[in-house]
Amino acid sequence: MNETSHASAPSRAAASSIAAPGPRGIPFFGSAFPAWRDPLGFMTRSREQYGDVVRCRFGPFDYYLVTDPDVVRHVLLDNAKAYTKSRNYVGLKAVLGEGLLTSEGDQWRRQRKLAQPAFHRAHLAGFAAQMAGATRAMLERWRDDDLGAARAFCVHEEMMRLTFRIVGMTLFSADVDGDAREVGRALDTALRWANDFAESIVPIPPYVPTPANLRFKKAMKTLDGIVYRLIADRRAQAAASKGYGDDLLGMLMAAVDDGGDGDAGDRMTDRQLRDEIITMVLAGHETTANLLSWTFHLLAEHPEIEARVREEATRVLGDRDPVLEDVRALEYTKRVLEEALRLYPPAWIFERQSVEPDTLGGFPVKAGSIVGVCPYVIHRHPAYWDRPEVFDPERFRADRAEGRPRYTYLPFGGGARTCIGNHFAMMEAQIILAMIVRQERLSLASGFRVELDPLITLRPKRGVHVTRRPAGASAA
Ligand code: HEM
Repeated sequence: MNETSHASAPSRAAASSIAAPGPRGIPFFGSAFPAWRDPLGFMTRSREQYGDVVRCRFGPFDYYLVTDPDVVRHVLLDNAKAYTKSRNYVGLKAVLGEGLLTSEGDQWRRQRKLAQPAFHRAHLAGFAAQMAGATRAMLERWRDDDLGAARAFCVHEEMMRLTFRIVGMTLFSADVDGDAREVGRALDTALRWANDFAESIVPIPPYVPTPANLRFKKAMKTLDGIVYRLIADRRAQAAASKGYGDDLLGMLMAAVDDGGDGDAGDRMTDRQLRDEIITMVLAGHETTANLLSWTFHLLAEHPEIEARVREEATRVLGDRDPVLEDVRALEYTKRVLEEALRLYPPAWIFERQSVEPDTLGGFPVKAGSIVGVCPYVIHRHPAYWDRPEVFDPERFRADRAEGRPRYTYLPFGGGARTCIGNHFAMMEAQIILAMIVRQERLSLASGFRVELDPLITLRPKRGVHVTRRPAGASAA
């Protein structure tokens, strides 16, 4: 960091009038440039240099990076009423509207209540079969096309395609594989735009016809076209058979908010349904695909751990497709995924904005400040993680995890806004990982080096390029 530094301070100040330490940055922009150039490095170094509550300036905003588990808990849970999602979600909101991820207050509470039942355990059982079926179909295609045998392929692309298909099948009963590439590209464009919009100090409103805004509009048109088609198809199906179906879309369409007084209330409009659907597709597919891609990368570098996953998958599953009960038995597979989520949390940062003054770790925080909770940094905090850079799934064995503070590990967030899809995602990742590793050995393509791309989610830049050989075959 080439910035002037304040003196390093303890994570807890005694008096609440002392400002939190942090980089001074340059006039007006503060630390915006170093944070923009290398967000992960900037956040990591800030904690190392200044402690667990770091104050930065990003343009006109006071930004607090918090990495102390008690302070994180305070923001996400104990004093959550003093925070909303930050202004940085404005870009995302242009894509997701008033869906669960971006809405606030009563609107959010109502939607969360309506959506929650779809993620209950009883539903997950049915989802498991669909997840396994989609994975089997993908593996068959790999074999039929001899993918990765003569030439390397991108396993991240494959995971994006698979998790997208699974979201479509499980939540909306739609086999959208055919649309996947188009939607993938459109979401990508929309997300990049949302990211740039959130990061720009003087954002150009979406209605100004700049090339980036025009690309964004076109991407949104593609997305909306597909989603409104799904809704219309379901309305037609419901009109014909008098049922909406028992997936998330069906539940959301059938759900009636009675305002808690038992009176017949309102159903969701097409616009509300569209917002929830795009939210679920977005929140539910890229995150899980990233998790799997990082896991394959880690396993390729740790063949002894990969072999243990294979042994477990073979022992628990034999030749069958996994069902919900198997997921519990795939313990080691789960620990591998938990450790991958620690090192490469797909939601590498999330933010809140204070609506009233607060005190964080003893430091005063003005209303309107942004608070960054950065799992990427917290998950590598040396005070809570022994040899944090090492990939060691055994950290998540019950006896070793015991006593670790809850808010030192938060790949799915915390407090009331915890990820609604966390069990769904873990089950999906366990099924996919076990099925692939049981059958295939993925090795990094020669000369390929993975690179981190911390956009809204933590992606592997340029993907993860691998070659493939059957699990039974010996190394070439
Ligand atoms: C590995 C996969 C996933 C990761 C790492 C992840 C991570 C997260 C995190 C950190 C949050 C909280 C954000 C915040 O507090 O600002 C969140 C919220 C959310 N996630 Fe996930 N997620 C994953 C998979 C899924 C799946 C599969 C779905 C749906 C099918 C989903 C749907 C949502 C929704 C709707 C919210 C907003 C919840 C609310 O505010 O009520 N996520 N996720």
